[in-house]
Amino acid sequence: MKAVKPNTKNTGDGLKLLQSLKTDSAALVFFDPQYRAIMDQLKYGNEGSRQHQRFEMPQMTTPQIRKFAAEIMRVLQPSGHAVMWMDKFVLCTYGAAPIFPLDWTVDLVTWDKMKIGMGYRTRRRGEYVLICQKPPRRAKGIWIDHAIPDVWPEKKNSEHPHSKPYDLQKRILLAVTSPGDLVVDPCAGGYGVLKICLETGRKFMGCDVASIKPGRGNTKASTNTRKERKMATGKKRRAHPPYSVMMTSKPKHQGPGRRGKNQGKRFAKRAPAPVSIGKRARYY
Ligand SMILES: C[S@@+](CC[C@H](N)C(=O)[O-])C[C@H]1O[C@@H](n2cnc3c(N)ncnc32)[C@H](O)[C@@H]1O
Repeated sequence: MKAVKPNTKNTGDGLKLLQSLKTDSAALVFFDPQYRAIMDQLKYGNEGSRQHQRFEMPQMTTPQIRKFAAEIMRVLQPSGHAVMWMDKFVLCTYGAAPIFPLDWTVDLVTWDKMKIGMGYRTRRRGEYVLICQKPPRRAKGIWIDHAIPDVWPEKKNSEHPHSKPYDLQKRILLAVTSPGDLVVDPCAGGYGVLKICLETGRKFMGCDVASIKPGRGNTKASTNTRKERKMATGKKRRAHPPYSVMMTSKPKHQGPGRRGKNQGKRFAKRAPAPVSIGKRARYY
């Protein structure tokens, strides 16, 4: 990896970037790893078509994620924060415990993506951001914004297939850092955190092993066109007959005796169509 420059998009291994940083130097680390475990466990049957971008993205194994976490713990200054993104699967399976020490957990925010996703039972609409603090843990004088709700609705942007909510990340950053503080994002994806740092005067150090063209990110991951659905399920759509056939053929329900002796009675009793009288319509 080339020398990492601050406030730029660096390409390379996030672990090496973390190893190059001084101990106790960062006020905040955003950690959004690409969990391989999710791909292995939650097979929805369309990994190769609808989610091809996610599939192509460099994945991170659990031991690798733990190595990142160990470096993040070293790099954080006392009372500094690590903000870790996870979905329901990771939250329920691992929580923070095997990654950061359990007693580092100080809060959890649910990101409501305002768009329904997949799921075998309920369908996903949220992701979670676990907020951990290096000891000594305290909020007073360190977390200065007390108006952030713990359920945060924000639409996903299209910078990257996994881009995280810009406004929520900005609020968290402003709540726990001051201008000039070092903010680290070792798996930067679409570099939303870099943008926030440039806007707010924080020093950014971050990288990603892959580079994804801006604007392409969300297209395939969320389009879910009919063609893609067909590819995913293998089911054929029922084709409509040509318009000329539809107009000439008898509708099925009007065949003789299909509704038995009561056929037509229901319709006979129905009230006639409303007649418009001025602005109001009335039945008579
Ligand atoms: C979940 S995405 C991050 C999305 C990002 N937080 C955003 O808002 O756009 C995870 C990223 O980790 C990157 N990644 C995987 N292995 C990596 C490694 N060893 N070092 C740095 N980045 C890595 C992937 O390329 C992917 O872009």
